[in-house]
Amino acid sequence: MSIDVVVLPVAGLGTRFLPATKAVPKEMLPIVDVPLVQLAVEEAARAGIREVVLVTSASKRAIEDHFDRSWELESLLAARGKQALLEQVRSVLPAGMTVTAVRQPQALGLGHAVLCARAAVGDRDFAVMLPDDLIDGPAPGCLAEMVALHAAHGVYSLAVEEVPRELTDRYGVVSLAGERISGVVEKPAPAVAPSTLAIVGRYVLPADIFDVLSRATPGAGNEIQLTDAIAALLADTDFRPHRFAGVRYDCGSKLGHLQANMAFALRDPELAAPLRHWLRDRLA
Ligand code: G1P
Repeated sequence: MSIDVVVLPVAGLGTRFLPATKAVPKEMLPIVDVPLVQLAVEEAARAGIREVVLVTSASKRAIEDHFDRSWELESLLAARGKQALLEQVRSVLPAGMTVTAVRQPQALGLGHAVLCARAAVGDRDFAVMLPDDLIDGPAPGCLAEMVALHAAHGVYSLAVEEVPRELTDRYGVVSLAGERISGVVEKPAPAVAPSTLAIVGRYVLPADIFDVLSRATPGAGNEIQLTDAIAALLADTDFRPHRFAGVRYDCGSKLGHLQANMAFALRDPELAAPLRHWLRDRLA
């Protein structure tokens, strides 16, 4: 069966972007003019996914509103003859997609956030995307490749990339046995990390993971970790590392967010030339 549902955990507080994220969810921060969460949903649409489950918290209403119709705005744009903008506003949610939201009542970790989506996902295999991790690569994109792997070979996968050893304590880190993932550990210290191959925010997971998550106890950072639940499944489940093409921007960090904005702006037809010009002057 093909993957038709993606879980987007978007309940986090976004403390690294305060004060910007005091009233605005970090997933609504734009890359040029498109919020991060919309870029994630567009990548999911290119993977053939039709259903998005947002795991939200209080103060994240803006994300649900973003994917809802805005009749007032649409009729205003229509009345003013702003056809192009009207189309953009209408296509925020790709055609044929639905969005539902569930609440994560307490910030107990990524594994717990995913567990909150259980009733919406049911007994289907599913995808998870972390919108902070923006993957800018060739179409149709990282998640589409992972979904295709599942459809063709029935295997599950985690997107991975090499990171400098001094940064292993920011990631889930995998070990490999041949083509399979044989171990995963959350945020290991550099000295004890089993490798420097880090998980980035794309997962294709089996429905059984919900059972494991429902019994999970807190791990790294005293949180219920998705990584630990994956670790518990590895003996019986074929998980593959997916090394994607393209660049990953850590848009949960200020530098990564700025870099993504620059990269996208430098290929925007309106912005590229003046931005390049301005940068050349500033850097001279
Ligand atoms: C989460 C996961 C971690 C993964 C990372 C990718 O960590 O727990 O395994 O490597 O996302 O961005 P977080 O960034 O939420 O601390």
